[in-house]
Amino acid sequence: MAPRTATDIGSALEALQRAGVLFRSGLHLEAAAIYRDVIRQRPRVPDVHNNLGVALKAAGHVADAVPCFRRAVRLKPDYVAAHANLATALEALERPLDGLEHRIDAWRLNPDDLEQRDALISALRRCPFDKPHAGARSVLTVLFERDDLDRQALASPAVRVWRAQPAIRRAVEAAAWGYPEREHPGSGFRPLTGFLPDELVLAALASAVIVDPEMEAAIVFTRRHLLSEVSTGRPANADLVWLTALALQARAVEWVWPETSEETADLRILDNRIGEPSPLSERVLVRALYRPMESDPMVDVLRREASMLRYDDASLWALLLRRSFLDTHAESRLEAEMPALTAIADDTSATVQAQYEENPYPRWLSTDRRPPRSLADHLRRVLPSAPLGRVPDGPMRILIAGCGTGRHAIQTARRYHDSLVLAVDLSRRSLAYAKRMARDLGVDNLTFGQADILALGQRADRFDLIESSGVLHHLSDPMAGWRVLRGLLAPGGLMRIALYSRRARAGFDDVRAVVPAEAPVIERVRAARRAVMSLPAGHPARALLRTADFYAASGVRDALLHVSETVVDPIWIDGALRELELRFVGFELPDPAILSLYRRHCRDDPSALDLSVWDAVEAERPDIFLGMYQFWCREA
Ligand SMILES: C[S@@+](CC[C@H](N)C(=O)[O-])C[C@H]1O[C@@H](n2cnc3c(N)ncnc32)[C@H](O)[C@@H]1O
Repeated sequence: MAPRTATDIGSALEALQRAGVLFRSGLHLEAAAIYRDVIRQRPRVPDVHNNLGVALKAAGHVADAVPCFRRAVRLKPDYVAAHANLATALEALERPLDGLEHRIDAWRLNPDDLEQRDALISALRRCPFDKPHAGARSVLTVLFERDDLDRQALASPAVRVWRAQPAIRRAVEAAAWGYPEREHPGSGFRPLTGFLPDELVLAALASAVIVDPEMEAAIVFTRRHLLSEVSTGRPANADLVWLTALALQARAVEWVWPETSEETADLRILDNRIGEPSPLSERVLVRALYRPMESDPMVDVLRREASMLRYDDASLWALLLRRSFLDTHAESRLEAEMPALTAIADDTSATVQAQYEENPYPRWLSTDRRPPRSLADHLRRVLPSAPLGRVPDGPMRILIAGCGTGRHAIQTARRYHDSLVLAVDLSRRSLAYAKRMARDLGVDNLTFGQADILALGQRADRFDLIESSGVLHHLSDPMAGWRVLRGLLAPGGLMRIALYSRRARAGFDDVRAVVPAEAPVIERVRAARRAVMSLPAGHPARALLRTADFYAASGVRDALLHVSETVVDPIWIDGALRELELRFVGFELPDPAILSLYRRHCRDDPSALDLSVWDAVEAERPDIFLGMYQFWCREA
């Protein structure tokens, strides 16, 4: 039946109601026709323009939706939803920079709206920034000032906005040209410290790992230049704030960058050149680009300086001293006090423990603080198509099995703030880092203990929720550990497990094959990084270049050089769940568009719960679980 016009209906209101009904029934173009009618008669109502845009976009006419949203925001400049809709439409048309303007408006109009903030941050992360962008610069500066945000997410856009300035871009590209061996011979290269220090890039260097191979090249050649100056007694004439931010970055990546034999020799010379009156000096900072400050020949002076810091000193120098001396000291004490809940008798567990004592993982510096929510609410967000049934409600007992350095455990404890969380790991150093961070962040419903999952079976307590992310695949027999965890699950409880995908990691063997087996760890890590950087374009392991893991020593060791690793596939997971009498509840997907791949294979399973179908989907797109199979399961 042809839609009636606004005049037929007699009132615009009635027409709008009818359009709403048509829209909800999926008749988007019919709804759009009514909105157009109404607009002809009442052209200045912003909501109707917005609704017309929504209807056209839903019908797949994204380009036609754009002018509708534009009219809506012109009529009502503080219309948050229309700005957000306009941004989404422009992003879908691959015009991310145009979209960003409206993401910024939508967030500025309502800065406490987490949805707008998340959308803004992901838009910033996707924008190419091939020229300077004042709007992005200004929102990033505001976002960096907040202490409830994961600054890792802000660092890449901050660096890209900064390096979009033509002179800086030339310097960075010249560095990247022959990295790691040498910079471009005809060199547009200039040490980064030759540019004015910039708040945005300083904040990024100080608070996150920079995920940008070209920027790494520029930092590495800058530090080489600084060392050659300072070790021969010449002043580097570098701004000390710049040097401090770079030293913080060197610390965050655990000094993973390549070092030539000349640099190693120059460092020895530098260590004999002490005696300057102030601890905050070019010599100390250039050395801190290569080695921990804790091993500086002037360590006693530096430690004293750290102990005298005012608690409200927010300078980068204070941050560097705090991280180098106060945090590490606090962690040593927490490590000594950490309770041992089980013995570590298994050989593989002992070997794995040794790796994470040397390289606690992951090295995180900040995390998002979000309002608490119930388990049911969380599951609805992460598994939108899963049939949930009954889930534990109210305070829960939660076990995090293999918590590493605690980021995930802290997020879980904050999310379910009225629950009690026990987080265990083999590595005492990782646990100490986790406990210090939990204490600094004021998370008090979380306790830590050293334990081997394999030995937890003797515990009498049971847990409503057990999370074990990136852990079971490091056991010599992952099923042995999973069986123990299954035995600890309370009736009606749920598990969230994450395991390595065989297909996603198949290309990693090409890297491992060229890494010397017997060299010291840092040499092996550097060899692995060099191998990844020289892989041809399109090689699956080059995906690592987009992960923070690749830019820090512990991350490379964890991802590529692990002492014990098993990879699985959906068919294996299916068999494991059957053996354990668990039911698959769904994958957390990095991109909801992946569900449409599943639906192409299997139309009549809206919950997407058939692991054999997932196996076929992954065979077609082997990269989709590069971030692991992250899934939920419960008693069958
Ligand atoms: C890759 S890290 C993951 C850390 C954390 N789950 C996360 O997602 O950030 C793996 C952690 O599992 C721990 N682990 C491995 N085998 C374990 C076992 N048998 N018992 C307890 N923890 C174990 C390691 O010590 C390490 O800290």
